[in-house]
Amino acid sequence: MVVMSPYKIVLLPGDGVGPEVMDQAKLILGTLSKIYRLNLELIERPCGFEYMKRRGKAWEEGTFELCRDTADAILLGAIGRPDNTTPLPVGEKSPGAEIVLGLRSQLDLYANVRPVQLFAHVRHKISGTFNNVWSPENVDMVIIRENTEGFYKQQKEWERSINNNEVIDQRVITRKGSERVIKFAFNLANKRNGAPVDGKARVTCVDKSNVLNGCRLFREVFNSVATAYTTVEPDYAYIDAFTLALLQKPEHFDVVVTTNLFGDIITDLAAVLQGGLGMAPSANLSDTHGLFEPVHGSAPDIAGKGKANPIAMILSTQMMLEWLGEKKNEGDMQVASKALFNAVIKYLKKGKSLPYDLGGDAKTTEVTKNIIAELEKKK
Ligand code: NAD
Ligand code: IPM
Ligand code: MN
Repeated sequence: MVVMSPYKIVLLPGDGVGPEVMDQAKLILGTLSKIYRLNLELIERPCGFEYMKRRGKAWEEGTFELCRDTADAILLGAIGRPDNTTPLPVGEKSPGAEIVLGLRSQLDLYANVRPVQLFAHVRHKISGTFNNVWSPENVDMVIIRENTEGFYKQQKEWERSINNNEVIDQRVITRKGSERVIKFAFNLANKRNGAPVDGKARVTCVDKSNVLNGCRLFREVFNSVATAYTTVEPDYAYIDAFTLALLQKPEHFDVVVTTNLFGDIITDLAAVLQGGLGMAPSANLSDTHGLFEPVHGSAPDIAGKGKANPIAMILSTQMMLEWLGEKKNEGDMQVASKALFNAVIKYLKKGKSLPYDLGGDAKTTEVTKNIIAELEKKK
């Protein structure tokens, strides 16, 4: 009998609600491993601001190499400071920059995939109220954020660009960096069901090419990539008008592709359409590595209170299983990832024991228990 070695999942819980939601991911993975006989080895490593306070560094020696050389996939909670009122001194590198941005750039995780889907019975968050202006089927898009350059590239060059009274944040846009992420977006559009409004496969290029040179290059590359995808409609929006359209006609959007910082901002905004940040998962992908994390941060305002919605983390875990299952051609893992997605949908449909951010009063662990109950029903 051939004994297969387990898939190694590196867990980086981090700070604030990070460890709270990571605990839920572990429970989910434990349940799925039992039901679907997944062979996973979870390797947890401490990191973040709290770790830095105690140990003087962002993470243990060797953790980056573990992620690069050993991990089949990486799951991250969140890295963040408990108090953000005073910024770090100019030029000081934060653990968030070292870990999150370090992994994205050094593992070349160029595509940040952020699905925005409003599930049935979940109410969106416009005006902090719970009006159902759109039916769920009108919000189903994926935002692809370029993840290795733009304003974030300058992190490496801080020292050079600083003097006492002036800081230059430079934005780097390259043809190569743009082309690969735009191709990723078009390939994804080819696999999806099109925009909710008309079923058309569409990729919207979001930029500020009326003003910024880097965005002109991005749009030029977008147009040249688009010619190879005759079944996908190329679509355009300037970033400012896009924020309006996103909230006014979300049903128009299928796949959206944009540069790094714009992508950061619009994915928090888009989360409003899916019920809040507690519902927004993400994947950071290269051709070889995958890092999966909720879109949200360490949420210091609710940390330690059991109020965090674990669904963003659980759906990020689901994206990890789907990616790993496809990459390794593991049928059981693909089945497990579908089962997890369906379990979340079924739990939400019941509308009971909802987390605080969805209008309920269920604690983080209770939400997970309910999702696990749905998973266990399957067998
Ligand atoms: P945040 O995403 O932590 O929180 C924004 C709002 O969303 C808060 O009101 C919070 O309570 C709510 N929220 C977030 N996650 C939630 C969840 N699971 N359930 C329910 N509500 C949730 O953004 P912030 O307050 O601007 O940042 C806090 C810290 O996190 C900062 O230090 C920031 O740099 C860091 N951060 C880290 C990451 C990451 O590690 N990938 C991402 C974003 C922000
Ligand atoms: C995100 C976060 C990160 C970013 C921070 C924590 C570095 O906001 O993943 O959306 O700016 O990309
Ligand atoms: Mn962000």
